[in-house]
Amino acid sequence: MSAGSGLPRLEGRDKVTGAARYAYEYPIEDCLYVWPVGATVASGTVTEVDATAALADPEVVAVVDHTNAPRLRPAVTADELVLQSPTVAYRGQVVAAVVATTLEAAREGAEQLLVRYVEHPHKAVLDPDDPDLEQPETTNAGFPGTSVKGDVDAALAAADVAVDHIYTTPPEHNNPMETVAIIARWDGERLLVHDSNQGPWAAATGYGMLWGIPADQVDVVTEHVGGGFGSKVWPTAGAVVATVAARVTGRPCKLMLTRQQMYTMAPARTATRSRIRLGARRDGTLTAIDHDALQYSSVIHEFVEQTGSATRTMYASDNLRIRHRLARLNLPTPRVMRAPGKTPGMFALESAMDELAYALGMDPLALRLRNEPPTEPATGLPFGGRHLVDCLRAGADKFGWASRDPTPAVRRRGRWLFGTGLASAVYPVYQQGGTATARASPDGTFDVSVAAVDIGTGARTALWQAVADALGVPPSRVSVHIGRSAFGQSSLAGGSAGTASWGGAVRKACFELGRRLAEHGGAVPVDGLEVTADTAADQLPPDHARHSYGAHFCAVRVDADTGQVRVDRLLGVFAHGHALNARTTHSQLLGGMVMGLSIALCEQTIVDPRLGLFVNHDLAQYHIATNADIRGLEAHSLEHTDDDVTLVGGKGIGELGIVGSAAAVANAVFHATGVRVRDLPITVERVR
Ligand code: MOS
Repeated sequence: MSAGSGLPRLEGRDKVTGAARYAYEYPIEDCLYVWPVGATVASGTVTEVDATAALADPEVVAVVDHTNAPRLRPAVTADELVLQSPTVAYRGQVVAAVVATTLEAAREGAEQLLVRYVEHPHKAVLDPDDPDLEQPETTNAGFPGTSVKGDVDAALAAADVAVDHIYTTPPEHNNPMETVAIIARWDGERLLVHDSNQGPWAAATGYGMLWGIPADQVDVVTEHVGGGFGSKVWPTAGAVVATVAARVTGRPCKLMLTRQQMYTMAPARTATRSRIRLGARRDGTLTAIDHDALQYSSVIHEFVEQTGSATRTMYASDNLRIRHRLARLNLPTPRVMRAPGKTPGMFALESAMDELAYALGMDPLALRLRNEPPTEPATGLPFGGRHLVDCLRAGADKFGWASRDPTPAVRRRGRWLFGTGLASAVYPVYQQGGTATARASPDGTFDVSVAAVDIGTGARTALWQAVADALGVPPSRVSVHIGRSAFGQSSLAGGSAGTASWGGAVRKACFELGRRLAEHGGAVPVDGLEVTADTAADQLPPDHARHSYGAHFCAVRVDADTGQVRVDRLLGVFAHGHALNARTTHSQLLGGMVMGLSIALCEQTIVDPRLGLFVNHDLAQYHIATNADIRGLEAHSLEHTDDDVTLVGGKGIGELGIVGSAAAVANAVFHATGVRVRDLPITVERVR
């Protein structure tokens, strides 16, 4: 990590004092409140929306349903096509919205709506024997649904040692502190929104597609965002309702989803079931890797979590097979959440590697070092930097792995059993082209505009620092403007691509501005000087396999009587190249590790199959790791600069820390107790 100067967050003070303004907080005059109404059946047809009682309240301005909503056009998933048809594909799908002059009246009106349905049979169980399973052509992020190298079955049959187990992860929900929020206004054919999202340009594009207008007719303002983690990547069903209400009423409309509404009106992660088969020679050389992933999508849209994608790139094997199968359930379309695919897939693969190490009587670190591939196993591409071995070795040193006795269930003090485990981490390098504008003023100050968004990562601060570095001026002379679609095409805060993508555009604009200023002999013209740069043509060719890597080392204690798991220590070492800001990078890595720990021990959305219902749809019952769950947490960044990666020389960091950490915890639990937990989360009844 070369950025010694970890400047503190620009907006830190505003956020903790309440001065930072979030989407819902803009004082827009004459604004109406929108309360979306979700279906109370899991599958069926709306036969009537009786609004008589609701409309009797003079504060209720309108009730919108499929009979009177304006037409929308297909955009990203069918879930956002709200109020377009009477068909109900899942419980909680938006079937109506009440618009009123006060929030209370909108909510009360929603209570008074009488929505009648014809109910149809539904399916809400992820069942490997489901006769209707599909074999998708591709997964999210464009990986092939099935890829085969060599003869996996023959290699498994001939292997000296083989393991064959099934690992599952439950549906999981993003719970950003700030739920989905929007204020929408129409000005003729222009849509103006204050919106909580993971990319104002993507939001403008998404709303534009839905309404059949160009993205530059949608003005999105997103100054501060209280978290996203994947739930705000594209316009959500919930937010689109407000744009519909504004169209119908001709007035500004505001909406903020309740925590419970977030569970069906914003996207979440599918459940996954991975069967992993590994075959090896006695010396630990892998001869076969088979990853068969089952997951679900909704009945209205195909979304295929890339659960097997990490298995494509991790370990050498002449025989490698990755398959994805898809069930169609009456649940909301799942979408990206915190390292999509990598999080559940690496829980499975890294647990299986631990099981193979025990089957071989081999150290799990040595097993991974033995199977380091010369090129990417699934594609044969050379790596654009790897450093997995460096991360594993450095982590083992810092953690004190060498002194470990591999025997499970033998370290006991009082009621506590102690154990340690490790797992690898990986996350692909994504980078998107986009524009940024840099301005020099005669007073010696500089302004840079880019349609970036800071969802809590510290992106604004990292860009501020990148601008100052690129211009060679003190940060105090630089202002960075983000959070507006009007600043031009730009990356999402998604796929851990944001800061590198925006940083690349910003640097290009600053370098060009510097050149232009030099042409003027360093003097700034009276009316200033402005340069807009576009990095669309500067993207790296797909001639290398580029990923960030890491290694997690975990120490747990498990209560032998109750099965309670406490993570005493979680140590990660990461190879992500250059960091724009050391402080916010460190926080991102720690945050990722906490999310992994949380997925390991707490997080699960429980589906009641009889009702097609997410049962635990709030923070009282959807458990997330809190401060009391976190003890020794350490993230280290590996020094290295030799990679051919992004325009800023750094790889993604946002999601890297999440990947593999759940397996490190599960592997430590096995070492402590001798109990192999293959189903997340690792709750007490699964340990005992
Ligand atoms: Mo992240 S799941 O790419 O927002």
